[in-house]
Amino acid sequence: MIPSDPLSLLQEYVESDPLIEHCLATGAIMREVAPSLDGDPDLWWTIGVLHDIDYEIVNGDMARHGVEGATILLSKGVSEEITEAIQRHNHLLFTDHSSPLDRALQASDSISGLIIACALVKGGAIGDVTVRTVKKKMKDKGFAAGCDRDRIRTIEDVMDQDLFIETAIKGISRIWRWPRDE
Ligand SMILES: [Fe+2]
Repeated sequence: MIPSDPLSLLQEYVESDPLIEHCLATGAIMREVAPSLDGDPDLWWTIGVLHDIDYEIVNGDMARHGVEGATILLSKGVSEEITEAIQRHNHLLFTDHSSPLDRALQASDSISGLIIACALVKGGAIGDVTVRTVKKKMKDKGFAAGCDRDRIRTIEDVMDQDLFIETAIKGISRIWRWPRDE
C-alpha cells in the first residue's frame, strides 16, 4: 500500500527538524517533477518523504542506510515499489540509477539541500531563489558541500537541467515555512 500520511510515518522514526525538512523538500521536488517524467506525483512524493526514514536508526552506518528503511516500511505493509526505490537510493550500495524514478530521487535528494541553503542565504526568501542562483552555487564547490553535484547531474539524461532546477525550486516553495518556528 501507499501510506496516506507519509509525514506522520516519517515522524515515528525521525526527530531532527532539519532532517524532516530535508525529507519534505525531497518529496516536494519529486512530486513536482513526476509529471515531466511520467511518474505518479503521490507515489513520488511518498518515496521522497520516506527515503531517509532510517537515517537516525542507522546512525552513520551507511551500509545499512536504505536497507533498514525498506525493512521498516515493508513491516508496515508499504508496497515494494516504494521500499525498493528507497533501498536503491543509497548510492554507496547501488550504482544503477537508470530509471527516471531513480534518477529523480538521486537528483532531488542532493539538490534539496542546495536550494534550502540558497534560500537561507536570501534570509529565507525562497521566492528570491532563481535557476541562475542555484546554477552559480552548484559551481561553487564549497557552498553546501555535502550536496553531491554528480548525483544532481544524473537527471540530465531524462530532463533538461534548467527545467529540473526550476521545477525543484517550485516544489520546495510549496512546502516552505518561514520563519520556521511559526
Ligand atoms: Fe536524503
